[in-house]
Order: sequence, then C-alpha cells, then structure tokens
Amino acid sequence: MKEALILGIETSCDETAAAVVAGGRQVKSNIIASQVDIHRKFGGVVPEIASRKHLELINLVVEEALQAAGCTLADLACLAVTQGPGLVGALLVGVNTAKTLAYATGKPLVAVNHVLAHVAANYLVHDVEFPAVCLVVSGGHTSLLYLAARGEAELLASTRDDAAGEAFDKIARVLGLGYPGGPAIELAAREGDAHAFAFPKAFSGQDDVLAFSFSGLKSAVINTVHNIIQKGQKLPVADVAASFQQAVVDILVEKTCLAARSKGTKTVLLAGGVAANLLLRERLAAALAAEGRSLLFPPLSLCTDNAAMVAAAGWDNYRRGQFAGLDLNADPALDMMRH
Ligand code: KG4
Ligand code: ZN
Repeated sequence: MKEALILGIETSCDETAAAVVAGGRQVKSNIIASQVDIHRKFGGVVPEIASRKHLELINLVVEEALQAAGCTLADLACLAVTQGPGLVGALLVGVNTAKTLAYATGKPLVAVNHVLAHVAANYLVHDVEFPAVCLVVSGGHTSLLYLAARGEAELLASTRDDAAGEAFDKIARVLGLGYPGGPAIELAAREGDAHAFAFPKAFSGQDDVLAFSFSGLKSAVINTVHNIIQKGQKLPVADVAASFQQAVVDILVEKTCLAARSKGTKTVLLAGGVAANLLLRERLAAALAAEGRSLLFPPLSLCTDNAAMVAAAGWDNYRRGQFAGLDLNADPALDMMRH
C-alpha cells in the first residue's frame, strides 16, 4: 500500500498532464503539456480549443508519464483523475481516458477534486504537521480549508465573487500585459511602486469574516485605469500592477492569519497557481512567523496545474477504498466537500 503506484490524469483547464506517484508522495514522473501559447493569442482559455488539444495530447502524455517513471499500466495500483471543478469539455477528456484505462486494465479508479489536488501538492514535498489551515488560491478558487489530517478537509471560507487568480488575469488584460496574468503582473510590479495607488482592501464579510471578495478591488483598478486613459495621461502600468498585487496579497494574508488564529493551527499551507507569487509567499510567511506559525508551499512547478498533485490526492481516496465506478462523470462545479 505504501509504495502503491498511482497514475494521475489532469485536464481541468489548459494543461494536459499525467504523472506517476508512489505511496502518495514520491514523484516518479510528472509530464505537463501546456496549451498556454495557444490560448495566449485569445487573451484567455478558449474552452473548445482546450478540449480539442487535450484529445490530441492525452495519450502521448500518459505514455510519456509511464515511460519516464519506468513502469507500465500493469504496475499501477490505481488510476486517479480530476473529476472537477473545471471546464466540462476539458474534464471529460481526462475522465474518459482514465475510465478507458481502468476498464482495459481492470485497475481501480479514483475521482479527485481539483482543489484538494492543489492542497495535496504540499504532501509531495513536505511532512505536514496536522491540524493545518490551507489557503488555496488559483484561477478558479480562493478558499481557506481546515485540514484535520491528510485527506480530511473542511471548507472554512471561499470567495463571494472572483477568484484571486481570475482578478490577476483580468487586471493584466486591462493593463495590456497578456495571459496568464499572474506572472505578468508579478513581473511588471517589480518596477513599480506598491504605494502609488491605495486600492480598497476592506471586505468585512459581515457574518463571515473569512470570506473573500475581489470584485470591489477589481472595479476600483479598472476605474482608475480608465480615468487615466480618458485624461490622456500615460498609464503607469508598473505602479498599477504593484499596487494591485499589494492589495490582493494584503487581503490574502489578513484572512489566512485570521483563519490560523481562530483554528489555533501552527502550520499553514499555501496551494494553487497564485501560490507561485513571490510577494504572497514572503508576506504570508513573515506574518505567520510573527505569530509563531510556519508556512509551507510547493515548488513553483507543483503550484500550477499538474497531475502529480492529482495522483497524491488520489492516494488518499485509494487507501480509504473510495473508488469510483465506470459511470464516473465529469462535474464542472464539483463541490469542495464531495470527494
Ligand atoms: O492553479 P492554476 O494553474 O489553475 C487553476 O486551477 O485555476 O492557477 C492559474 C492561476 C492563473 O489565474 C494565474 O494568473 C495565476 O494562477 N498565477 C499567478 C502566478 N502564477 C500563476 N498569480 C499571481 N502570481 C503568480 N506568479
Ligand atoms: Zn488548478
């Protein structure tokens, strides 16, 4: 059981990925075919194109993952696939591939929640001390989870509107920085003044103090940009990028510290594509350290979408005997707690 080999398959958005992981933590192979260059031309992910590309690539990517791991389908203990959330047409390619392989080999199949897969990326590189709080920040999610143990997640709060990564992507587009927005804003912000603009950060959440909201911040940034353009002034792209990034990071740091304090956890995990952001890593680590807590995060390559994290999360289902049937269907709005 400990060294069980799991093939993970991930096609929820614009990365076609397959990976082999042993015992839920040792990465044997991790293959990612990114479609970013194709979608960049359109300024964002085009769902129909993503599905077609996944179809073209998935068999090659799976084959490469097995080869790089030095194993065959016969060596696998189980197949793990992202069931959702994500783009339905994209998810279907992964789900149908995993089902076909499970049927052909007679191996068990497990369904993985993409958000919990992001969390599990941490288990590939850290010995996590539980209980812990995890901030999952990606293009589709901004959530705080309480983790009593590995594979046991409770949703504490999420965003009322946009995800943090989505806000990065939208603001990058407004600033003409291209797609994906997060890395572009981070790069532009290096040359900018984070105090040039005071964008709104306050969101009390009223009944739910941990809840996030980024729509007010997003509108404020867009209005500022439009005002500058209307006045015929030169847009200070780096300053807007730096001030926006600072505001997002401040919001994420404040709520995450609040969650760790209220749950009394020593360990905090960071996960998801936005976890690649250096300012977020540094500021959150410093704020938590000041309270005697420690922050763990995966290396950059395991923050954004990959299949090693899917295999790692799949291992949690596998060891509990939580298998999926061959009637498994993609679920674009898969609830965080159904796993
Ligand atoms: O986890 P991910 O690869 O896909 C989803 O599940 O959504 O996250 C992608 C998101 C995008 O919105 C991208 O702009 C953001 O993560 N991102 C970043 C950085 N790198 C990726 N955001 C801020 N700073 C970064 N360095
Ligand atoms: Zn993701």
